[in-house]
Order: sequence, then C-alpha cells, then structure tokens
Amino acid sequence: MRKKIVAGNWKMFKTPSEAKMWFRDLVGKKPDTQAEAALMVSYPTLPYASEVLEGNDVYWGAQDVSAHLEGAYTGEVSVKMLADLACKYTVVGHSERRSYHAESDALVAQKANRLLEYSIIPILCVGESLEVREAGNHVAYTLKQLKGSLEGITPQSADHLVVAYEPVWAIGTGKTATPEDAQAMHKEIRTWLAGRFDLGFANEVRILYGGSVKPDNATALFDQPDIDGGLVGGASLKLDDYIALLNAAK
Ligand code: PGA
Repeated sequence: MRKKIVAGNWKMFKTPSEAKMWFRDLVGKKPDTQAEAALMVSYPTLPYASEVLEGNDVYWGAQDVSAHLEGAYTGEVSVKMLADLACKYTVVGHSERRSYHAESDALVAQKANRLLEYSIIPILCVGESLEVREAGNHVAYTLKQLKGSLEGITPQSADHLVVAYEPVWAIGTGKTATPEDAQAMHKEIRTWLAGRFDLGFANEVRILYGGSVKPDNATALFDQPDIDGGLVGGASLKLDDYIALLNAAK
C-alpha cells in the first residue's frame, strides 16, 4: 500500500509570519487522515515550519536546492542547510524553474542526487507543454525528461524518491488533466520506472499529480490506481481547501 501525499507547493506566496500563523491553524484543525501532509515553502519560512510542525504529523520541505554542496555561490541554498532544518522533502525540476531559470534535466538530476545523499526525498517534477500534448508526444516527452532527470540515481539511492507528473498546461490555469488522462500517464511512468529500477521499486514509488488540483476535482484524481496524491499550488494556500484535499486522499 502506497501512502498518499498531499504536498502543497506554496511557490513565492506567504511571508514567514503569515506562514507561521497558518501552520498553527493547520495543527489545530488538521483531521486524522490516511494521507501524509507536506508543505513545500519558501526558504525563509523553513525555520518556522520546523518549529511549529515538528511532531504534529505534517512534514515540510523546500522548492529547490543548489546542485553545489558548499562554496561561493551567492544566493544559493545547500542541501546541508535544508537537512539542518529537517526537511523531509524538496521539490526539484518544477516546470517554473525549468522554464524561468533554464534548468536542464542534467541539472535537475544533480539536485536530486544531492538530496538523496542527505536523505531528503526529492519530489521530482516532469510534464509536457500544451504544444507537446497537442502533437500527441506527451508520453515520449515526459519519459525522456524523467530519464534525464534521474541520471546517476541508483536503485539503492532512489529509495524514497517521489515523482510528480505536472502537465505544464494545467499548472495555475484551472485546466486539469482528466482523471483518465492523468492515470494513463502515471501508469506509463510507473511502467518505465520498473524498467529503469525494478518492479518492487515501481510498485512502491509515489507518483503525484499536479496542475490545478482543487477540492472539487481531487477525489476523482486521487482515486485513480496510479495517482498517489497531489502536488498542489493555489489550493494549498487556503487552509480549508488544503484540509479538504487531505480528506480527499483516502
Ligand atoms: P497549481 O500548481 O495547483 O496552482 O496548478 C501546481 C504546481 O505548480 O505545483
């Protein structure tokens, strides 16, 4: 049985003080759910996450990490810093970083490797653009991106890796993949991972769906056999919506 994850991706929203209050509210209201709650927040918010969420069955992480371990890299944040703040997860290869910061599959793979070295679980994002989907090349494109982003990752190191399938055309647009389309891609990803690693790994790896997940479409998505929860932007910023998403992930 794969435990579902409802991972919030807060992007560049909420100040650390706003986040701290939100965390307190969540801890007060969080229902007992089967799904795991995790929030990917801005770097300055992480100390508050560890302060308030620790021991409360809610996990946290960052939205990116440097590929470098340490050194003169102004503005970068290292995996050691994230480990020091007890991050359980960290997002790598989000499409916003791939497009606005020109992150290649090779760079994403370096970042994922760094996280695994420090026992932080990468939430590795892949997904096609509208153009690719309309041309019917979405499966080949997404699997190629996944292959490149997993370069150097061994079956041993991959252990707890999480994959997030996020079609770019569904992110922040209000357009969601249908549960059937999302399921079809998740199945392709799982099958491909069985070949890249092994069947045991493929059966255990969590594959999250992301792209305009909301309380009113979450149940149908999360009920698909190969969808193990969501990576959720907009709807994870509102406490009631986030709680509804946790309840939807049975
Ligand atoms: P969205 O974002 O839920 O607002 O579409 C998802 C994401 O970018 O991870």
